Amino acid sequence: MVFILKIYEDPTLTSGQRAKDLLSRMTLEEKIGQMCQVDGRFDPEMWISERHIGSFLHVTGDEPIRLQKLASQTRLGIPLLFGIDAIHGHAFQSGATVFPSQLAMASGWSPELLEKAAGITAKEVILTGLHWTFSPVLCIGRDTRWGRIDETFGEDPYLVGMLASAMIRGYQGRSLGDPYSIIACAKHFAAYGETLGGRDSAEAEVSVRKLRSIFLPPFKAALDSGCATFMAGYNTIDGVPCSANEWLLRKVLKEEWGFTGLVVTDWNNVGWLHETQKIAPNMEKACEIAVLAGNDMIMSTPEFYDTALQLVNNRIVKEEYIDEACRRILELKFRLGLFDDKRFPDTTKAREIIGCDRHREAARSIALESMVLLKNNNNTLPLQVNIKKIALIGPNCDDVQAQLGDWSFGARDLSRAEIQMLSYHPHYDTGPIVTVLQGLRKRAGNTVEVLYEKGCDMHTLDSSHIRQAVEIAMESDVIIAVVGDDITLNGETRDRSALDLTGGQQLLLEALKETRKPLVVVLINGKPLTIPWIKENADAILEAWNPGMEGGNAVAAILFGDHNPCGKLAISFPRHAGQLPVYYNQLPGWHGGSYVEMTSEPLFAFGYGLSYNCYKYSNMELSSHRVTTDDTLVVSVEVHNSGEYEGTEIVQLYINDIYSSVTTPIKELKGFSRVTLKPGERKTVEIAVPVSTLSLVDRNKRTIVEPGEFEVMVGGSSRNEDLIKATFEVI
Ligand code: NOJ
Repeated sequence: MVFILKIYEDPTLTSGQRAKDLLSRMTLEEKIGQMCQVDGRFDPEMWISERHIGSFLHVTGDEPIRLQKLASQTRLGIPLLFGIDAIHGHAFQSGATVFPSQLAMASGWSPELLEKAAGITAKEVILTGLHWTFSPVLCIGRDTRWGRIDETFGEDPYLVGMLASAMIRGYQGRSLGDPYSIIACAKHFAAYGETLGGRDSAEAEVSVRKLRSIFLPPFKAALDSGCATFMAGYNTIDGVPCSANEWLLRKVLKEEWGFTGLVVTDWNNVGWLHETQKIAPNMEKACEIAVLAGNDMIMSTPEFYDTALQLVNNRIVKEEYIDEACRRILELKFRLGLFDDKRFPDTTKAREIIGCDRHREAARSIALESMVLLKNNNNTLPLQVNIKKIALIGPNCDDVQAQLGDWSFGARDLSRAEIQMLSYHPHYDTGPIVTVLQGLRKRAGNTVEVLYEKGCDMHTLDSSHIRQAVEIAMESDVIIAVVGDDITLNGETRDRSALDLTGGQQLLLEALKETRKPLVVVLINGKPLTIPWIKENADAILEAWNPGMEGGNAVAAILFGDHNPCGKLAISFPRHAGQLPVYYNQLPGWHGGSYVEMTSEPLFAFGYGLSYNCYKYSNMELSSHRVTTDDTLVVSVEVHNSGEYEGTEIVQLYINDIYSSVTTPIKELKGFSRVTLKPGERKTVEIAVPVSTLSLVDRNKRTIVEPGEFEVMVGGSSRNEDLIKATFEVI
């Protein structure tokens, strides 16, 4: 008997040909079912057998295998896509590798390390039978009150684009068909981080010019890196919710940029159009708007299935819209190879690889690169060899969840009370997670004694433990205070009105200062906090962010001088929440240039970060002082390590278009390079800047490079005092 393959079954044909053929065999119900994605914990059997569902999210354990097998028994056997928020490692999976938060990783300015972290995540995700991560986040973090600042790569569009592209390459590999590739998702499209007052999912008041010059470029970079999916934001732009924004999703993304992948809504974005944002008087209208706007897959709006069916049957929505969305979904499934190999998890391999030593090692190196030394008076750090006793004090010394940050572990399923309990009675497998207390004790060994006291609570003003903390501080040679925030103060629906240390932390620090012992502050936090007192009073400050599972070892390695810190802030620290915004790339023109009671200078600027060395910049040279838009300007500079340690310096290059037809930022990052130098070594660093990237968006919304004089600034931070400058002309 000759077995004839149907076109869509033929692996030698292209994904496009196969998707087209399969589509032609599908009923309307099956096509609409493919557009649905729901939480796989609720009635998945019904969704598979009766509604022909295309995708589940948040399914873990053995469920992907069971559900995929059920789907293969349906009429056409279309495989399911499983999505998960594996945004800094496959961090909801017990035992998996948890990397530092995205904001932390951004401080390493290392596309290579990010690509590696994403590659490891992809491997761990695929080995659990899942295919799609809702990562990276390309939102720009400018109002630090926003609850999701920890999920961003910080405030600069260029850096966001570079790092996001690296992560996408890491997730998707050379091709989605590679055995360890997963699908990336660029989110939240667009300007979701720019909502007024830092209020999550609210209104973003941005113009088309601002969108095109600040918020869209990172997404364009993601698209150019091959990102296969985009997620629409919850927010409105100029009153139009992103998931209802036909201009954004269809005109710009799909038509102008030629995006061929799929757009997924965010969680119940479609319901929001009716219930919250009130642009649709009922669910019928909400579904119609969402389909016409260009959303292909509808996340967590279960009503979409019946409603879309009615809309097409009643000829309100043309079936061709459904066909177009379904085709994109099928094509993606074909590209991933799901029709030819279901990619069932290999449980033996999974046990061997998930959270293995090599992956932990990568989590440790990225944590080391992510930490930022913010102050180091009189070489307080690294700890001197004569130190025999350390007082380790603070609520974040031994708090697993604060250290891992959001989108990890129990972060999304637990109430605030449960999260607090977790620090004391972990019911997850916290075995492989090294807190600062554990890391420091291990590194200190038998020669240095580490006394520990939590000292205070982050949520109450209870000061009853401060006395014990002061007592151990008094008997020690140095105090290491680990303070910051936790996940009750970060995340969706957790925006803040103030960014000060909470609970008893400030009182604790002031009491410790009174002891006159050297005070080292380690910050474990999701976002910049307003800590002028710490800047003034601590002898040294190490920003560790949410450093992931190896965070404790990384902090210990830096404090003891095994690793020379090199991280640079990807986001500016305000002095006070009332000083926001403090991002570095502002437009000039503030009358007076400061508030009555406060300078405009941030507490710590974008790009800032110290090391145990001092790096000196000199001999800046330009490949040419007159360039055309087709040229690439090469800027070279000599960097000298005048210190005693080997170290890595992150050399930053900023540009200012001195006079232009529209007002442009006072400086904009256009390149950077990491250089490693031995003690006393000098190296010439070259940074290439394609002149075409020096564009602005003019009054007619055209992206162009205007001729004229430009200033180029190179140095170790965005602060003027850290930059050396030259000029050149674009002709
Ligand atoms: C809502 C969040 O905004 C989004 O980032 C996430 O991917 C989805 N929920 C799914 O969990």
